[in-house]
Amino acid sequence: MLSRIDHVGVAVADVGEALRLYEGSFGLRVYHREVLYDQGVEAVALQIGASAIELLRPIRDDSPVGRFLAEKGPGIHHLAYAVEDIEAALSRLKADGVRLVDETPRVGLGGTKIAFIHPNGTFGVLSELIQRV
Ligand code: CO
Repeated sequence: MLSRIDHVGVAVADVGEALRLYEGSFGLRVYHREVLYDQGVEAVALQIGASAIELLRPIRDDSPVGRFLAEKGPGIHHLAYAVEDIEAALSRLKADGVRLVDETPRVGLGGTKIAFIHPNGTFGVLSELIQRV
């Protein structure tokens, strides 16, 4: 059902500072940059092979990433798995009793379809399913 790790989401307070490391020192390339107003984040995606690092900066303190930063500081926020059919994947997880944050997909970065799985059901890892269109 899950085909590969699509990206790792990293919460940061300052995108410019983070890019000095990820772009400057690590040599990764930014391929997408977008503000997702409903999720309250600015997201900057850097390619690494067939996967990506997504830097997430809150644009509001009361957004999920804003609360994460306030409580834990910068760090790994979520792990995203690629799926071919997100609706099918969600109904399978639902049938298995896995606790979901999103029962139906919403729009993610670059028009992708995404849904989050609650960390209570994934051994503490906030997990995302992503279907690239
Ligand atoms: Co993500």
